[in-house]
Amino acid sequence: MSANRSWAEPYRIKMVEPIRMTTRSHRERAIAEAGYNTFLLRSDDVYIDLLTDSGTSAMSDRQWAGLMQGDEAYAGSANYYHFEEAVRTFYGFRHVIPTHQGRGAEHLLSNICIKSGDVVPGNMYFTTTKIHQELAGGRFIDVIIDEAHDPESEHPFKGNVDGEKLKRVINDYGKDRVAYLSLELTVNMAGGQPVSLQNVRETCALCHEHGIRVFLDATRCVENAYFIKEREPGCAGMSIPEIVRAICDEADGCTMSAKKDSLVNIGGFLAFNDAELADAARNLVVIYEGLHTYGGLAGRDLEAMAIGIQESMEYDHIRARIGQVRYLGDRLLKAGIPIVRPVGGHGIFLNAATLLSHLPRERFPAQALAAALYVDSGVRAMERGTVSAGRNSETGENQYPNLELVRLTIPRRVYTQAHMDVVAESVIAVADHRDRVAGLQFSYEPKHLRFFQARFATIQSHGIFRNDDCERPTTTEPAAEIVR
Ligand code: F0G
Repeated sequence: MSANRSWAEPYRIKMVEPIRMTTRSHRERAIAEAGYNTFLLRSDDVYIDLLTDSGTSAMSDRQWAGLMQGDEAYAGSANYYHFEEAVRTFYGFRHVIPTHQGRGAEHLLSNICIKSGDVVPGNMYFTTTKIHQELAGGRFIDVIIDEAHDPESEHPFKGNVDGEKLKRVINDYGKDRVAYLSLELTVNMAGGQPVSLQNVRETCALCHEHGIRVFLDATRCVENAYFIKEREPGCAGMSIPEIVRAICDEADGCTMSAKKDSLVNIGGFLAFNDAELADAARNLVVIYEGLHTYGGLAGRDLEAMAIGIQESMEYDHIRARIGQVRYLGDRLLKAGIPIVRPVGGHGIFLNAATLLSHLPRERFPAQALAAALYVDSGVRAMERGTVSAGRNSETGENQYPNLELVRLTIPRRVYTQAHMDVVAESVIAVADHRDRVAGLQFSYEPKHLRFFQARFATIQSHGIFRNDDCERPTTTEPAAEIVR
């Protein structure tokens, strides 16, 4: 089909799941009860859920049929072998260990490959990856290119590793203290930005020259492959599976959260080429996840994952997936909303520091913007800024990353273009009232991954919108319980 035709979805809807619209006053109470943290909202109170693209995809009829073929044997389930074959075929790694989700794989990898005092360079941190590295005694060092930290840079591959930064880490610490290089495909915290195939090749070559292994975070490798096909000179003629294999063939293994690219609600894996590493992982997986042929999953989950991996590689699927995200991004750009550019793979990242420039970073503008958006329309987004970055593990001080973002993450195959329009309209409406959005302070701060469970209070007592006359004044509203 001609490239300038629309990206219409390569599926039709066979079953629907009703969602609930709520009133503004209901949402004001719900977000106050949730401590202004969208993670603590009940999903019943959410209209369009863009909290995450993780485990929120719609499975296909083939995947649902696969669930019925679950072989729930404790050991050696037939579904495990289907799954193993799918990973070997599409990702190319020889040894495959299933885990219940991505962080299960990260836990095992960190335990096996990091010793106390090691450093782990990587192309920007991801929350769960970094904490497992730290708990294993390592320290993450960011070696992504500077452009990744600039929301306005139009660099086509903002996920790239900066070779000079990596060389400096190797020189400063010596190759023996570099546990491995952690290479994430489409970098989540940078806004879903891809790594070029050339950069994968150069980075892996540099590491291997020094005897340093490279482990991919392949969670969104298919989305990365689509950008390579679209943008990288010489790659337009390659198929998506060819690009995925070309990436994986450079590396020594990967961790995977199959809840994203692979179109399942739960699942993940760890994969290696090296038999000794795989043995170590099989030894540990029985302690933390389950036997090495189920890794904390039901047989049916493994089957759904085997089918999801295949479906994720289909060109029409990935084109429509990226096309939908881009549609929302283009609408917001046209309205002058500051978002991370270029539009990335799995969502739109609003630049909260710019949008709510009246709020200092200590008042968590991204957290406040996510709460305000929910109150406006019932759209649930997620903070990706200071709260997510946490405190410096040595000094205990808040870390203030350059990027103070709100992520509108698009689940795969779930929402329609009309839903995207509603989201865009709501962001624009909140932006029109931006001066009224109030800042937040912690009322409860958990020790680890604080963004999941933290609670906040508004700086003033009138809810997230100051002098709210959008619908009616909120100042007289008692903090009543929600009637369900
Ligand atoms: N790596 C990346 C790049 C991720 O985005 C995630 C999860 C993980 C690893 C961990 O995988 O959740 O299966 O344990 N990201 C989710 C998100 C939580 O919303 O971005 P998991």
